[in-house]
Amino acid sequence: MRVFHLSAECYPVAKVGGLADVVGSLPKYQNRLGCVASVIMPWYDVDFVNKNTFENIFDGKVVLRNHQYPFKVLKETKNQLGFELFLIKIEGLTDRQSVYGYEDAAKQFIGFQTVALYFMRESEIQPDLVHCHDHHTGLIPFMMNYVPEFEKLRGIPTVGTIHNGQYQGQMGWEMLNYLPGFNLSDSGLLDWNNIINPLAAMVKCTHAFTTVSEGYLNELMNEKGAGLESLYRQESQKAYGLVNGIDTEVWNPETDEFLVENYGSNNFVSKKKANKKVLYERYKLNKELPLVAFIGRFAAEKGADLLPGIIQRMIMERSGDVNFFVLGSGNLEVEQKLLDVQHRFIGNFGLETGYNEALSHLIYAGADFLLMPSRVEPCGLNQMYAMRYGSIPIVRKTGGLNDTVPDIEEKNGRGFQFNDADETGACWAIHKALDFMSNTKESRKLRRKIMKIDFSWEKSAQKYLALYKTIKQR
Ligand code: ADP
Ligand code: GLC
Repeated sequence: MRVFHLSAECYPVAKVGGLADVVGSLPKYQNRLGCVASVIMPWYDVDFVNKNTFENIFDGKVVLRNHQYPFKVLKETKNQLGFELFLIKIEGLTDRQSVYGYEDAAKQFIGFQTVALYFMRESEIQPDLVHCHDHHTGLIPFMMNYVPEFEKLRGIPTVGTIHNGQYQGQMGWEMLNYLPGFNLSDSGLLDWNNIINPLAAMVKCTHAFTTVSEGYLNELMNEKGAGLESLYRQESQKAYGLVNGIDTEVWNPETDEFLVENYGSNNFVSKKKANKKVLYERYKLNKELPLVAFIGRFAAEKGADLLPGIIQRMIMERSGDVNFFVLGSGNLEVEQKLLDVQHRFIGNFGLETGYNEALSHLIYAGADFLLMPSRVEPCGLNQMYAMRYGSIPIVRKTGGLNDTVPDIEEKNGRGFQFNDADETGACWAIHKALDFMSNTKESRKLRRKIMKIDFSWEKSAQKYLALYKTIKQR
């Protein structure tokens, strides 16, 4: 079966968050299961693209409204990622350094999707299934089925995965002129509350839609669908919750090149300490103290605004007997507040703003606990990376966090949960976790156990393939 994944991000080409990790690993594991999975994504002016070789396999021009843009489809020549990678380069639209944040994002992603369809239409090998990820590729199922230009692709099964339902890519109907022509009687399929909503269009037009945990699927249908709850409920017969896996080749403490010392579940005690030591020396943190870390986007969903209050309160309540480390970027107000806390608690709090892949690995290895006070967490990968590296997750009981980190008091406990996304809830759980750590034997036992959990993609990749087969048989 030949499957094209379409996405705005893919690790290691361009990563902003977990979407990239998923799209950079799921196809690799699907290929090992006998499927032919490739990735089609926008071209960006980034290191991976500039340092690797690509072959121009298709080119042409795309008209968006009244402007003509030349485009190229470039194929990575060595298949070094474990799948074929196709980049869509549109002059003046995708030749940019960042994935997101541009004023004309709607136009950028309409252009990307339209050219991706030109490419699939003209490609010698037609896909058996097209798998779209998030709203940036949400118009594809509509265009395949209702745009006469793409008639050749009509009926090919599509799957749409929601990695984050908070972002829906809404745009006003004036953007209609940028879309390829279709019969206006079909425009209701693009509409939600009188505007074009690509995520809603994806849900309406795909053969099946999935999200990245069962817990989050439930939340989408109930209170966390960001306005689309009734649509998710209405389309529930084609909804699936499939939890993400992790790439256990990239995220392996035994071989990870970003670590100072590698380790496994038999020798983690001293080796985790060695990684922590380097982190502490680099950031001048007080030695020998337990470390609670946070890695992620400074966004409301992640509860990042709670961090300054939590850190300050915990350091005071534990009389300076705990260290924190935060790596992240995003909301500038959060960054400023964290800087203020850092100045007040020198030696107890390390902060690095910006995106730093290497440092993130060192933190997963050196930390004792990983804190995730998320308000919304569709799946979350950090907690799985943390467990694989022997760091115990402290998580808010929500979405994928609730599915993957049962509380210590449950039978298969893996970490510490708290209910309320506020300072008090998080501090309550952190105190509990730190007290637990003073029981060295129990704490080591838990770390050994979570390091051995199989979070690999094999199981979930199988589930996606089973879903593809079900849809094709319909
Ligand atoms: P989301 O996609 O919502 O941001 P996930 O938990 O699915 O959350 O994935 C986040 C991914 O991004 C993880 O691989 C995490 O290690 C990484 N990450 C987030 N922020 C940073 C950062 N500032 N530096 C390095 N890696 C980061
Ligand atoms: C999104 C979600 C995150 C999930 C990731 C990969 O960015 O916020 O929870 O892990 O996608 O599916």
